[in-house]
Amino acid sequence: MRRTILKAAAAALLLAPMIGAAQAQEVKEVQMLHWWTSGGEAAALNVLKEDLSKEGYAWKDVPVAGGGGDAAMTALKAMVSAGNYPTASQMLGYSVLDYAQEGVMGDLTEAAKKEGWDKAVPAALQKFAVYDGKWVAAPVNVHSVNWLWISKPVLDKIGGTEPKTMDELFALLDKAKTAGVIPLALGGQNWQEATMFDSVVLSTGGPEFYKKAMNDLDMESLKSDTMKKSFDNLAKLVTYVDPNFSGRDWNLATAMVIKGDALMQVMGDWAKGEFVAAKKTAGTDFVCPRFPGTDGSVIYNSDMFGMFNVPEDRKAAQVALATATLSKSFQSAFNVVKGSVPARTDVPDTDFDACGKKGIADLKSADSGGTLFGSLAQGYGAPPAIANAYKDVVSKFVHGQITSSEDAVTQLVQAIEDAQ
Ligand code: GAL
Repeated sequence: MRRTILKAAAAALLLAPMIGAAQAQEVKEVQMLHWWTSGGEAAALNVLKEDLSKEGYAWKDVPVAGGGGDAAMTALKAMVSAGNYPTASQMLGYSVLDYAQEGVMGDLTEAAKKEGWDKAVPAALQKFAVYDGKWVAAPVNVHSVNWLWISKPVLDKIGGTEPKTMDELFALLDKAKTAGVIPLALGGQNWQEATMFDSVVLSTGGPEFYKKAMNDLDMESLKSDTMKKSFDNLAKLVTYVDPNFSGRDWNLATAMVIKGDALMQVMGDWAKGEFVAAKKTAGTDFVCPRFPGTDGSVIYNSDMFGMFNVPEDRKAAQVALATATLSKSFQSAFNVVKGSVPARTDVPDTDFDACGKKGIADLKSADSGGTLFGSLAQGYGAPPAIANAYKDVVSKFVHGQITSSEDAVTQLVQAIEDAQ
């Protein structure tokens, strides 16, 4: 009798934690930190909110405005150090690895195995979404930065054609200037300027040079005349912006092109999300050639939803979020609206417009041809401290605090060395 009671007590003790876990109410909510606050970005995020709401998950939005995500990353740091982890945060490349190294990320490997992510997601993304053999982030998309977004009506009005070389680009910008149109719409914020400079470096130095300088941080390349020439080209480009560019948000620069106030913007394909939100059509309202001299190469970034090590009762919602994010139908629907291309290689391009189809094809050929490079401005070239040093020097140069290309090169080399 006594033995039976003891046995029952032991069994109850063994069962207790399991019952506790089963009884803990699953929190049917996803808390997401992100910087998607422009019209196109918000429309894209809605696709996800709606998908999750169909599965019964509420959406707790933590938006932190500011393209490029610097402000969002500051907010994330504060939350994580207070032990207040969001279910997920929008993150870029190397910052996922930083948090993973700190040991604060969750583990999505089970979901990844079930859904076959390792077969569908390109290696260039897995390098950042998988840490120590575990999936810690769900890639949402692949963006690329080496594009021109040109107003077709303005291009036609000034009698211009899509430029194929840097010289043709400058000639076209001159044409716009003569016609009284703002040639280049730019937002004077460091991340926008650096995003544009990524393309300038690739065009000026070619694919091998870009990789050496901007991904391998090879000092000889960073110190080279080619880098100096890249700054010369940047200085020339900046002569085509309007006097009010300082501090302007990227989506307002896109709006200038949409309205026909400016001829073009050099920006990542999140700019296309703004054209889509404004109901503009690729080919007739705008065209999207690659930045002149960069055809065949793709400078990429990918928005990842970094998954944090949330309490047990929030894990099911996290798995639902990650699974929804990487589903084929979502990858198509979301990226059509966002301007990016799918983070899986097995999603048909049927629903994408001409720019999206080109983006998908370019990614595929750059990936297989060895010309797919991480964007230094967008967190995929080097860890955040180095990317920040880069953005800082480029921006000082654009705003006249560094006055020559030679000084820019010296300061860039110094800043990168200090940040390493
Ligand atoms: C990028 C991000 C894009 C887009 C852009 C502007 O860093 O990858 O998704 O949102 O910022 O906000």
